[in-house]
Amino acid sequence: MSNKITVTSPLLPDLDEFHSMLKEIWDSKWVTNNGQFHKQLEHALCEYLKVPYISLFTNGTLPLLTALQALRITGEVITTPYSFVATTHSIWWNGCRPVFVDIKEDSCGIDPERVEAAITPNTTAIMPVHCYGMPADMDRIQEIADKYGLKVIYDAAHAFGVEVNGKSVLNAGDLSTLSFHATKVFNTLEGGALVMHDEKTKQRIDYLKNFGFAGETEVVAPGINSKMDEVRAAYGLLNLKQVDDAIAKRQHIVQRYREALRDVPGIRFFEDTPGVRHNYIYFPIFISEGQYGCSRDELYFRMKEHGIWGRRYFYPLISTFSTYRGLPSATPSNLPVATKIANEVICLPIHPNLSDEDIERIINEIKKP
Ligand SMILES: Cc1ncc(COP(=O)(O)O)c(C=O)c1O
Repeated sequence: MSNKITVTSPLLPDLDEFHSMLKEIWDSKWVTNNGQFHKQLEHALCEYLKVPYISLFTNGTLPLLTALQALRITGEVITTPYSFVATTHSIWWNGCRPVFVDIKEDSCGIDPERVEAAITPNTTAIMPVHCYGMPADMDRIQEIADKYGLKVIYDAAHAFGVEVNGKSVLNAGDLSTLSFHATKVFNTLEGGALVMHDEKTKQRIDYLKNFGFAGETEVVAPGINSKMDEVRAAYGLLNLKQVDDAIAKRQHIVQRYREALRDVPGIRFFEDTPGVRHNYIYFPIFISEGQYGCSRDELYFRMKEHGIWGRRYFYPLISTFSTYRGLPSATPSNLPVATKIANEVICLPIHPNLSDEDIERIINEIKKP
């Protein structure tokens, strides 16, 4: 199929500028282990994201694993089945038991009332996701965590730059994780980060991502290797300069989609929430088969046949994968909203290079009788 429209496309820095930075790395011969670009990117991200401390990682999965290690989480962790598998995998890899609870239809975020109902004496933490960059119900989740003495680790892989009333959502809970994967609003090819509130926690996490080394001869924890190298840090510094422009382009696409699809029966989507600075990382639409006239899958495959690659994200639910479906909390009757949404969703193509003609082609395909 010619003229394939992909669901996403990476934000790439200017190649000449990247080349000059590579030259600096080559000249310095310092390619990883907390180099100058690594330090600069941590500093620049703290400013851009309005967070006090950040630690860079090689991807967005290792910060999840490390967050659970850093807080010494054990037993049961309450989480959402409506996410990318890495969220639940990180709980499993830490030897903890994921406990799935249902989501709310208005944000696709974890339902705090379901969280409270799922707490047992073995619960030690809650791991919510700011799904599609829609802020989770942070106040209510914190209230519950405080009441029961639980930690909160946000999987904020989708929430780069998202703010509520001028404050970053990354400051909520005990720790927040980010992904800088090529598909994200801000990317370092592969990459990620942990956001924390204080210097002591940053120090501990910096040890953990460097094998647990605290100095030349001392290891203070069974750490891992997840240090971001200088090449990716340089790439990140360049991309940070153009991320606001990329978000503005995404917003333009979302506005066009909303205008065109608002009156199509059987299609729902999220509107902007007052007071929220959205990052427009995804544009999910939800298909009600009865009103729209065909199923989500029929539309998805028809689009694909015509060269338009949406993504059924998140489908299937994490709780339905063979690894997790035996868990008592994975039963579909425990997760009616997530089950319904997973069968209705298509994320439409969205990225800064999507042309107006491509947007029209996508809209026309969806509006076809
Ligand atoms: C919600 C969520 N969590 C975690 C991850 C993992 O991030 P990475 O691919 O950078 O390891 C992703 C990546 O897509 C994600 O969407």
